[in-house]
Amino acid sequence: MIRTQVGIVGAGPAGLLLSHLLHLQGIESVVVEARSRQYVEERVRAGLLEQGTADLMAESGVGERLKREGLVHHGIYLRFGGETHHIDFKSLANRCVVIYPQNKVVADLSDARLAAGGRIFYEADDVSVQDFGDANSQTRPRIRFRANAQPQEIECDYIAGCDGFHGVCRPSIPEGALTVYDRIYPFGWLGILAEAPPSSDELIYAYHERGFALLSMRSPEISRLYVQCAPDEDIHEWSDARIWDELHKRLATADGKWKLTEGPILQKGVTGMRSFVVEPMQHGKLFLAGDAAHIVPPTGAKGLNLAASDVLVLSRAFTEFYASERKEPLENYSKTCLRRVWKAQRFSWWMTSMLHLFNTDNAFDRRRQLAELDYVTSSRAASQTLAENYAGLPME
Ligand code: APR
Ligand code: PHB
Repeated sequence: MIRTQVGIVGAGPAGLLLSHLLHLQGIESVVVEARSRQYVEERVRAGLLEQGTADLMAESGVGERLKREGLVHHGIYLRFGGETHHIDFKSLANRCVVIYPQNKVVADLSDARLAAGGRIFYEADDVSVQDFGDANSQTRPRIRFRANAQPQEIECDYIAGCDGFHGVCRPSIPEGALTVYDRIYPFGWLGILAEAPPSSDELIYAYHERGFALLSMRSPEISRLYVQCAPDEDIHEWSDARIWDELHKRLATADGKWKLTEGPILQKGVTGMRSFVVEPMQHGKLFLAGDAAHIVPPTGAKGLNLAASDVLVLSRAFTEFYASERKEPLENYSKTCLRRVWKAQRFSWWMTSMLHLFNTDNAFDRRRQLAELDYVTSSRAASQTLAENYAGLPME
């Protein structure tokens, strides 16, 4: 039997950052992860940090590589009708964003945890959570699992469910205790990672009659590009040539001057798009954080940043509890997080609605979307709204 203060399920960005922030406050935790360390650190996911998330990493001592390799962007481009418009976050919201791949965030955090003697069980099988239902009970919650075929049990004061959308923690909460709010979009994104220098200094979000396209990047050598596709699109029907052809068409400018640089495709895949929130984000002594509690469509680049703000709130609540036995911040965890979560949900839904073709759209809707893009790029008030949400609302 292993004893600790906070048992954490999941070694993604939420679980590792929580474990790291707790450690800085002298609070002990143990992390249990279903996959291998290599798998978690190599999985290609999001890549954009709000300034608040980048600052949090730097201030907590895990920002060294981020500072060296992160690409600071002062805005984004919106391209529609073949014209390009820049939204300048620096002048509109006095903030910026940083391009830095999520798998590097995960690698930096696991290095820091392991260097500080932190305990992470990778490749844990049959993970389950028990005895967490009553916040006032004397019984301590448990995490059970098998590691190297041996049964293991962690007894803790509290459990943090940081195990993503498909994890075990949320489904372990009795049905009826949670309310789900969700929306599934009638499209997905086909994404590629290409060995090609990015064809733009900053991200380009393109509205096009063939569907949305996004030019993003991972480094000065690697581009990340997406095209809107069917939610169940068969990736085998997309040869490299077809993908590049579609990207050229959707990202083209009216004057034909802008050029998209091609390169070998290193990886490709299709992801569905949904908005999802569970309320409350806690039950008894179990707290959900990150994708375990909410999913956003990627158009607002908010997933990783919401995971970071959740665990910041949770780490502060645990700090209060262990320093002074004040339970109020823990009791208010869900309420505190949900205010920011819902604003990020609204923004992600809005960006998605403005930029994608919906199968229910008619000519009126297209004109309306174009008017919205025109408004957003020509009114200072509207572009400021986009800038302050994209660069990140305050963390608490
Ligand atoms: N037991 C233990 N670990 C589990 C289990 C389980 N039953 N189920 C899932 N996990 C692990 C996953 O293998 C993964 O490493 O939990 C981790 C959850 O990590 P993420 O899915 O990355 O979620 P989170 O840490 O909340 O980060 C959110 O990830 O999906 C992106 O866009 C999203 O950037 C956002 C970020
Ligand atoms: C990415 O680089 O993967 C990325 C960037 C911005 C988004 C979504 C994805 O809105």
